[in-house]
Amino acid sequence: MIDAITLPKAELHVHIEGTFEPELIFSIAERNRIKLPFPDVAELRAAYKFTDLESFLKVYYQGISVLRVEQDYYDLTTAYLHKAKSQGVRHAEIFFDPQTHTGRGIPFQTVIDGIWSALQDGKRNAGITSHLIMCFREVSVEAAMATYESALPFQDRIIAVGLASAEVDNPPSRFQSVFDRARAQGFLTVAHAGQEGPPEYVWEALDVLKVSRIDHGVRSMEDPVLVDRLRREHVPLTVCPISNTRLHVVPSLTAHPLKRMLEAGLTVTCNSDDPGYFGAYIADNYQQAAAALALTGDDLVALARNSFVASFIDEATRDGYLAELDAAVRSS
Ligand code: ADE
Ligand code: ZN
Repeated sequence: MIDAITLPKAELHVHIEGTFEPELIFSIAERNRIKLPFPDVAELRAAYKFTDLESFLKVYYQGISVLRVEQDYYDLTTAYLHKAKSQGVRHAEIFFDPQTHTGRGIPFQTVIDGIWSALQDGKRNAGITSHLIMCFREVSVEAAMATYESALPFQDRIIAVGLASAEVDNPPSRFQSVFDRARAQGFLTVAHAGQEGPPEYVWEALDVLKVSRIDHGVRSMEDPVLVDRLRREHVPLTVCPISNTRLHVVPSLTAHPLKRMLEAGLTVTCNSDDPGYFGAYIADNYQQAAAALALTGDDLVALARNSFVASFIDEATRDGYLAELDAAVRSS
């Protein structure tokens, strides 16, 4: 019997700011003498009723506003790594959103130093390898380009650039100039597309931004020609089932296309997105999707295998993780 919790896996779609648990939001707010507009943790958690991506992002930015100094970013990242370890994560590719910090006057260096030192300690203490992916927000192309330039001194710590935040009316092609530059300077690229936005945005992410992976991409299933291309080109999709239910991308987990995507031969992975806000980390996503969609043990193993295959780790490390996965399957 495959155990979704201990199954070795990589997480490829998690926003570090989205791992912020209400208890930690309150304790960091107190440390920084910031008064939150909620009396306690229970009331804050009770506000986590989202109608769509935009309604979520409002609450998410409010949580982020308490992060001020390097220690805050260190504590946030360390808390995620502890949780990830308990959910079978061996390797994590983590988004961070510098504009939500620099836009409040926090230096880029403060943000990346805190996250980075936690990731180094996470590797030493928990054995979790990781990469950082810097996401741009919808604000403006000029702001994205300025952020890109402020990241260049830290290029050795950032493997890829991505696109996140509000998707509707924010087509990926807007960011062509920034992504062209990033690829020319050696960054890989990914983009959120086909979450709330139409399949056309997935085409744009592939053809204009030339991404290595699509984040979400569930709406690709509306376009059979696109599905065929994603299958033929083995384009990985970092799907987040519980996020999709909490943000009403799908009406329920039983209606989620994850199983159909696997059956269509797509390189699907299963991820948590913003687990501090959606109440489910990566293995919870595996387990709950398995229960709702009657996923088999083979399906769960395929998701875990895809997570390593679709990751940006070097070949030797990836082969080691795949061997670990095979051993776990044999002894199950
Ligand atoms: N930022 C954090 N979570 C996100 C999501 N699910 N979609 C777009 N941007 C995000
Ligand atoms: Zn996301």
